[in-house]
Amino acid sequence: MNPARIAPSLLSADFSRLGEEVRNVIDAGADIIHFDVMDNHYVPNLTIGPMVCSAIRPHTKALIDVHLMVKPVDRIIPDFAKAGANIISFHPEASEHIDRSLALIRDNGCKAGLVFNPGTPLHYLDHVIDRLDLILMMSVNPGFGGQSFIPETLNKISSVRKRIDLSGRDIWLEVDGGVKVDNIGEIARAGADTFVAGSAIFGAASYSEVISAMRKEIQQASEAM
Ligand code: DX5
Ligand code: ZN
Repeated sequence: MNPARIAPSLLSADFSRLGEEVRNVIDAGADIIHFDVMDNHYVPNLTIGPMVCSAIRPHTKALIDVHLMVKPVDRIIPDFAKAGANIISFHPEASEHIDRSLALIRDNGCKAGLVFNPGTPLHYLDHVIDRLDLILMMSVNPGFGGQSFIPETLNKISSVRKRIDLSGRDIWLEVDGGVKVDNIGEIARAGADTFVAGSAIFGAASYSEVISAMRKEIQQASEAM
């Protein structure tokens, strides 16, 4: 399986000093930056767009993982690619033409991901898995940080892990929502390799302590497998 990656969500960072937060969290041992884009239409909240992505880009060499919670999706994809995004994922229900949106992401030089809400069926994977670099499983309903992990997601993660293994492709399996030190081990056991954590990391006094504790839990889970 892929090495584990920790992806802090900027949603819980201090927005008045985002560049510094990006540098600090990467220095603390995080691997990639998770960038939550909300439009007050697909989800009932409004966050950050391509201009903020451009603004943080010079602060790190780490990959920027853009999670689009917007509808429609296609108009904004090239803007994020120009703003320095490396990975762009979107929710299949928010695109009229999933295959076209995936191609647009790739044509703009980024890796492409599909995002599944807790209630979104996995059949959306049926005909596009060969065009995915990442599958993002939501373990809360999208829109807000600080919500509780929905346990049924663990079964869904296991199902997706099987599909990825069957495909034989190198597709990252990322989990987003309510990920903490005390549940990251079971999420890893279910098959995830990339872990988004917002409030658990940015709400802590020491980012490095939380990130190390998370890595330790993931390591223990992989040894037990
Ligand atoms: C929710 C966002 C998440 C969120 C995670 O819609 O996609 O990335 O910031 O925050 P926590 O880790 O606090 O649940
Ligand atoms: Zn997210």
